[in-house]
Amino acid sequence: MTTYGKLGEHDVLRVGFGAMQLEHGDPADAVKVLQRAVELGVDHLDTAQFYGPGTVNSLIKTALHPYADSLRLVTKVGAVTHPTERLVAAQKPAELRAQVEENLRALGTDHLAVVNLRRADMTPGIVATGEQAVDLDSQLAELITLRDAGKIGGIGLSHVSLAQLRQALPAGIVCVQNLYNVLTRGHEDVLAECAAHGIAWVPFFPLGSAFDGFPSVGGHPVVADQAERLGITPAQAGLAWLLGHSPHTLLIPGTRDLGHLADNVAVARIELDPEATAALDALS
Ligand SMILES: NC(=O)c1ccc[n+]([C@@H]2O[C@H](COP(=O)([O-])OP(=O)(O)OC[C@H]3O[C@@H](n4cnc5c(N)ncnc54)[C@H](OP(=O)(O)O)[C@@H]3O)[C@@H](O)[C@H]2O)c1
Repeated sequence: MTTYGKLGEHDVLRVGFGAMQLEHGDPADAVKVLQRAVELGVDHLDTAQFYGPGTVNSLIKTALHPYADSLRLVTKVGAVTHPTERLVAAQKPAELRAQVEENLRALGTDHLAVVNLRRADMTPGIVATGEQAVDLDSQLAELITLRDAGKIGGIGLSHVSLAQLRQALPAGIVCVQNLYNVLTRGHEDVLAECAAHGIAWVPFFPLGSAFDGFPSVGGHPVVADQAERLGITPAQAGLAWLLGHSPHTLLIPGTRDLGHLADNVAVARIELDPEATAALDALS
């Protein structure tokens, strides 16, 4: 198994860091987690201006600015926070541009390695209706303009179907973030299409998330049993299965815990044996 993978033109450690969990909790602890992630070799950081809102990008800037040349900052656009709801769709091309500019400003940089277009066509999460139900091609045209201007290194997609990924391929897609983990494999067709085109597959909720209603990967008895047999943690077993399942997979597990962070980064060098792989393959 390889320790590094491709995110567009960049080689990155296959275990990055998803920053959403830093929305809550002690800011000083969050800064320590971010700095420790980079010390451990993480060079792929996933964020959004709507995490917080603004809090997470501000913590990243506090912790890591000025950024190492090797650090790939990846954000997502397509939603904004709202006074009474967690998120609302903001899918119009001009709104996408404004969100890219807001991420750049908040992070204190003039370049984002990748911007993921977070579509809002299916649950879980927001579903866009009315004037927010925007056609994909007009959104991609706006992101291409931003890429041509050098503000974006690559364009990614999030929460998309196989048909949408195929429609977007001419734009030059570098990664796809969909909900996927060892217990929840609804987008195997999208993963296969990513693999066929050398596109990074970056599953969100790789451990099942911190939200109620999603099965916890580490809480599954088969995952826990195999982990115990191998002398690793259940979370490590679930993440290692993802890396072994496709060489195009990059991980962005989220944590506020320094111990969990170290466990997660170590997964870049963990390969499950055939018995564990078969047992976890059978869990879908
Ligand atoms: N594109 C999109 O639409 C989208 C949507 C959602 C999320 N994302 C991104 O995906 C990233 C990952 O998703 P997520 O953070 O929601 O969920 P996740 O990574 O599946 O799970 C996070 C949960 O797992 C726990 N955890 C992490 N490492 C652990 C370990 N080694 N052992 C035990 N528990 C562990 C965390 O708690 P502790 O803090 O206690 O470790 C937290 O409760 C996000 O941070 C975000 O950057 C993208």
